[in-house]
Amino acid sequence: MSEGAVKKEEKPRKFQAIRGTRDLLPPETALWNRVEQTAHEVFGTFGYGEIRVPIFESTDLFARSIGAETDVVSKEMYTLGGSAEFSEKVREGRTEGMLSEMQPEEMISLRPEATASVCRAYIEHGMQQLPQPVKLYYMGPMFRRERPQKGRYRQFYQIGAEILGGTDAPAIDAEVIEMVMTFFAKLELQGVQLDINSIGDRNCRPKYVELLRAELLKVKDKLGADSQRRIETNPLRVLDSKLENEQAIIEKLPRIGDHLCKDCAEHYSAVKQELGLRGVKYRENWRLVRGLDYYMRTTFEITASGLGSQNAVCGGGRYDGLVELLGGPPAKGIGFAIGEDRLILSLQESGKAPAQQGRDVYIAWMGERAHATAIRAAKDLRKAGFSVELPPVEQKFGKALGQADKLGAKYALILGDNEVSEGLWTLKTLADGSQAKFPEADLLEHLRKQRAL
Ligand code: HAM
Repeated sequence: MSEGAVKKEEKPRKFQAIRGTRDLLPPETALWNRVEQTAHEVFGTFGYGEIRVPIFESTDLFARSIGAETDVVSKEMYTLGGSAEFSEKVREGRTEGMLSEMQPEEMISLRPEATASVCRAYIEHGMQQLPQPVKLYYMGPMFRRERPQKGRYRQFYQIGAEILGGTDAPAIDAEVIEMVMTFFAKLELQGVQLDINSIGDRNCRPKYVELLRAELLKVKDKLGADSQRRIETNPLRVLDSKLENEQAIIEKLPRIGDHLCKDCAEHYSAVKQELGLRGVKYRENWRLVRGLDYYMRTTFEITASGLGSQNAVCGGGRYDGLVELLGGPPAKGIGFAIGEDRLILSLQESGKAPAQQGRDVYIAWMGERAHATAIRAAKDLRKAGFSVELPPVEQKFGKALGQADKLGAKYALILGDNEVSEGLWTLKTLADGSQAKFPEADLLEHLRKQRAL
């Protein structure tokens, strides 16, 4: 027996979506579309235009902007070789020592976020020549190799916005936050809580970080292994700790708010005033430091109900200097990203998800003449915006009505030989079983009127 024949008898492998990724199916996708459509509308009213950036970029871009030592870059990126030579080595199995030999510019990574890409695009397309600031928004999949759990995926979706160039006026920070809150309000997201903080700038933060490190060293023995390591690598991240036994210690640590330089303190105070003018309610949270390196001054996070431990539905902040760091002109920047998966989850948990959309009309037809009429009816109804199910083969009327019911259709349009020869079509309302006959032209008008009710 040939090898091919043996293979044929093997049970075919059952494929499943890779851990941390998932399929989004109807009717849930209708909610995703509604959320995205609302983002297009709301962000449009604030003067933002959509940008679409590639799914993968040079690894170096992310390492330089997000920070090589951050969890996102050091542990969570999906990285592969970008050069033809590299791919050839992989194909031929010559992978030994490959990673250590590879130059950073040879590597590409699936994007773990989009702020770095938007800054790269700003520079690449000379957007500093445009009227400033440039306001951009995006939506799409991001990739992080995190431990999957409720609200945390390896392929997840973000809806984000960035405002680049121009001034760092506090009104900009406040308006960016106002825009997210407007978006959430329009979606009727429940339990929305906005936390804000200022993490200072390159003038005041380094001094605060040193002070924090010195204080942390004094209590090092009482901290867990992660926090102990972070005293060296990034003391600010210790403030993020959720460990029960570290909370009392953290609460006694020096707070950045007491160590901001004059400019940062004034900026923060003005941001709060501007939020007040816009009626945006916030809570100050001195421990909100964010996990990416590019932030300075204003940081914020938004949580919502129904999400369990992964309850941050949006994170953002100011990142003046990032464009310059990536080789562009000096430019201010601030933005946010919403976790769309979590946003959808929260809407579903609070019952704000729209019910499954059934068909409007199921066409129950029988007979050759009725078939041609049914095709014409379907065309006209769809043109008028109705969702129509036209069965491909004729069915007994009883079966057709059962099928219409299962699909959640509002009406069954009954077309048999009698209807076609009389020119009077029967419309059955499935909710109450009532039936009426209409001439072809009146039927559309009747359905239109019913829809408007
Ligand atoms: P981030 O805090 O890393 O910020 O992510 C923003 C949001 O994305 C989070 O609050 C969360 O809702 C969602 N998210 C992150 N990781 C996952 C995951 N594994 N599964 C599901 N959802 C997730 C950023 O990405 C910045 N680029 C935001 C920004 C834009 N800052 C300034 N401009």
